[in-house]
Amino acid sequence: MNVLRIFRDFVIPAVVISLIGLSFFGTTPSFGAERKSDTPLSGSTELGQFTLVDHTGRQVSQEDFLGNYLLIYFGFTHCPDVCPTGLHILTNAVELLGAKGINVIPIFVTVDPERDSPQIMKTYVNYFHPRLVGLTGNTEQIDNIAKLFGARYSKVIVSTKGNMGDSNYVLQHSESTYLVNKDGRLLATITDGVTPQALAQQILPFIGK
Ligand code: NI
Repeated sequence: MNVLRIFRDFVIPAVVISLIGLSFFGTTPSFGAERKSDTPLSGSTELGQFTLVDHTGRQVSQEDFLGNYLLIYFGFTHCPDVCPTGLHILTNAVELLGAKGINVIPIFVTVDPERDSPQIMKTYVNYFHPRLVGLTGNTEQIDNIAKLFGARYSKVIVSTKGNMGDSNYVLQHSESTYLVNKDGRLLATITDGVTPQALAQQILPFIGK
């Protein structure tokens, strides 16, 4: 099946590439230099400006999210398997953290703005969690936010004869989860949150719990 082959041939290598990218990032001198006392494992990294459109059609920027912890995942709504799994884990981790009194906003950023309109994002995010925020925009805006986080994605054309309906491409993309602090700084890039429990557990030290 095309989809499974794509997963094996593209998504898995993409994850390996993102892990290599992460370890490179981790050796950047400024990364350690900006360490804060309340973020013992990683320090935090300044993010640049972004402007996007949320799933209600409202224009948003980084300033709209200040004052909240964010957990951000990049993907696309046509993703057959990886994104649904990732978002299931992310939203359940948010519930586990909420039960400990830690409020985190879950965010899904599409890397497929061509197909993922605010309306499509709204239906999709509501399926996963009532508080999941869907963000889309134009290609330039999506390129920009992906670069800010070091998220990678690229389009792969597939046969229209497969089981993808009217879709003739998929996106290979990073599967990391990005933790942003209340000041809008990147606290952690988590690549191995394989269960909601594991993801929630990994987040706790970064927010001083
Ligand atoms: Ni996906």
